[in-house]
Amino acid sequence: MQESDKQLITKAIEVAGRAYAPYSKFHVGAALVSSDGTIFCGCNVENISYGLTVCAERNAVFAAVAAGHRDFSKVVVVADTAEPPSPCGACRQVLAEFNPDLEVVLANFHGKVERFRLGELLPRATKGILDRE
Ligand code: THU
Repeated sequence: MQESDKQLITKAIEVAGRAYAPYSKFHVGAALVSSDGTIFCGCNVENISYGLTVCAERNAVFAAVAAGHRDFSKVVVVADTAEPPSPCGACRQVLAEFNPDLEVVLANFHGKVERFRLGELLPRATKGILDRE
């Protein structure tokens, strides 16, 4: 069964609560939907070196790929902000590797939601290496 955006936002908020963000104190959660309906969650994991921090979105993608999934239909990203959060450029590129037309749902903890296609957030994304042949 396809989960509703509301259910996905609830899952993403739950995983944001497990973020390891002692430096920024900014907790982000992501719920990535595979084409078969499986949901993979990720939270940001920071590091004292700062540069080794990995965002919620990329952690969700990496968990999904490790579980054998590469075909994604939607990602939901949440943070406890006044406006819905905006994925960083690195995460946009990593998401585009698997689906440049991914549906992107951004939400805050209070029900404000914005919807995009990844192509709007990362126009003219570089294609995956296998497409270049
Ligand atoms: N962060 C995410 O996890 N996803 C986003 O979309 C924006 C930023 C994290 C990275 C860092 O741990 C903290 O939020 C502050 O930038």
